[in-house]
Amino acid sequence: MADYSAYKSIKVEIRDGIGWAMLNRPEKRNAMSPELHAEMDDALARMEFDDDVRCLVVCGAGGNFSAGQDLKKFFRELENKPFEQRKARDLANSWRWGRLWGYDKPTIAMVEGFCVGGAFMQLIGCDFAIAAEDATFSLSEVNWGILPGALVAKAVADALLPRHAMYYASVGESFDGKEAERIGLINFAVPKDQVRAKTIELAGKLMSKSPKVLRATKQAVRNVKTMDVVQSYDYLAEKGKAIKVGDPEDSYNTGLRQFLDEKSYKPVEGAFKLGTMLKP
Ligand code: ACO
Repeated sequence: MADYSAYKSIKVEIRDGIGWAMLNRPEKRNAMSPELHAEMDDALARMEFDDDVRCLVVCGAGGNFSAGQDLKKFFRELENKPFEQRKARDLANSWRWGRLWGYDKPTIAMVEGFCVGGAFMQLIGCDFAIAAEDATFSLSEVNWGILPGALVAKAVADALLPRHAMYYASVGESFDGKEAERIGLINFAVPKDQVRAKTIELAGKLMSKSPKVLRATKQAVRNVKTMDVVQSYDYLAEKGKAIKVGDPEDSYNTGLRQFLDEKSYKPVEGAFKLGTMLKP
């Protein structure tokens, strides 16, 4: 296992296949400083290659997801430091979008407390999101006289119906977990004391699938969004061929065998037993 002990602004815990990448500045409601961005970028890169991590959860320590960019350390203190500012922005965008968007493993954002401004990037960058019903979401940028920058406006516009995106970005009004579920920003809103259990339950479902097939599936769902129909047919056909090559689970044949010959599972009820688990 990689050593994650040196981080100061984040915390990494790995348990039962789940890698918990936690923003860890609870006294600042997990507002994101340049140091936090550098550490998250490093941790996510390492966890992608850590065999002990099969599902990534992005969350915050101390009961809050994140209060967005640190208005002092990320904005004010970097105002006259163009190099440091550029470096911090690059790292912030790298982990919140570049890495998460194409992450090799399934990713879940687990939201408790505040999720504000720039934190929408990692919220939407993750494949799935689960929040407490009483969590507080806010695109507060308009109230600071700034835009939902980096990629926030784009992420929100792509994730939500246009009216919802326009309303919450323009009015800056906060909303709770139930509303976040209603507008499709998250998958599930659950009572606060069930957020962790629901996250572990979803992680368990994801980890029961063939990693290679799941990775291709999430890439396909993301990528066809910007393709036309002809491109999508072609891309999905080639992607389908690609997952049959070098899949340690030999998923297609393993699934067929268990359904047709052994009659040991039905695909509508769950995942087949992975090929690697059956090998001595
Ligand atoms: N940047 C810098 N410091 C912050 C931030 C932030 N985004 N959010 C909270 N803090 C600090 C506070 O200044 C305070 O510091 P102090 O103890 O040294 O005074 C500490 O965290 C606790 O914050 P409180 O406001 O006292 O906590 P409370 O629970 O009452 O409120 C809340 C939390 C609602 C999140 C409030 O702090 C807030 O509105 N923060 C700003 C959120 C925001 O608009 N973020 C978007 C920034 S722009 C962007 O991300 C692109």
